[in-house]
Amino acid sequence: PRPILLTRHGESRDNVRGRIGGDTALSDAGELYAKKLSTFVEKRLKPERAASIWTSTLQRTILTASPIVGFPKIQWRALDEINAGVCDGMTYEEIKKNMPEEYESRKKDKLRYRYPRGESYLDVIQRLEPVIIELERQRAPVVVISHQAVLRALYAYFADRPLKEIPHIEVPLHTIIEIQMGVTGVQEKRYKLMD
Ligand code: G3H
Repeated sequence: PRPILLTRHGESRDNVRGRIGGDTALSDAGELYAKKLSTFVEKRLKPERAASIWTSTLQRTILTASPIVGFPKIQWRALDEINAGVCDGMTYEEIKKNMPEEYESRKKDKLRYRYPRGESYLDVIQRLEPVIIELERQRAPVVVISHQAVLRALYAYFADRPLKEIPHIEVPLHTIIEIQMGVTGVQEKRYKLMD
C-alpha cells in the first residue's frame, strides 16, 4: 500500500516570534529541516516515480518543499493554515491582552470558535474535503507539507480521531507522520528529523 507522508513546514520566522498566521520565510532551523526532509523523501520515495508533493500556497510550505527534486509539486489553497482573520500576525499573549473575550471564547470551544473575519476549525475541516477525496484517489505516495491546524484535521481523518479532539492533537514541527492504509486498518510511523 502507498504511504501518505504528512509534515508541517520547517520552522518559520513567525514561529520563532510566536506570531500566528502571516506568510514569512523559514528560520535557519526551518531551512535545515527542508534539507533533511528532501533527503528523507528522495530516499523513501525514489522507486515510486509517480509520487507527488502537495503544499499550501504559503511561502513556508513552498520553501520547505523546494530542496526536493524529481517529483511534481502541487499547491492547494485548501492546505493553507487556518485563517486567523483580525488576529493574523498577533501572538497569543497579544490576543489575550487586547481581545480577552475572543481569547476566552476560543478557549471554551476551540473547534467551533471562528476568528472575526477568519475561520474556525470546522471551516478548515470542511474546506479539506476535496483534498481528502483527491488523497483517497491517489495510487502513488503523496507528501503533504502544510500547517498545524490543517494537519490536525487531516490526521484525525486518517487516524479516525473524534471531531472534538482535532484542535488539540499534537503535530510537532520537524517530524514526518507516515500513514499507511492497509486492509487491517491504518498504520502510522513517525520520523523526528530534528528538534
Ligand atoms: O497559527 C495557527 C496554529 O498553527 C494553529 O494553532 O489552533 O492551536 O491556535 P492553534
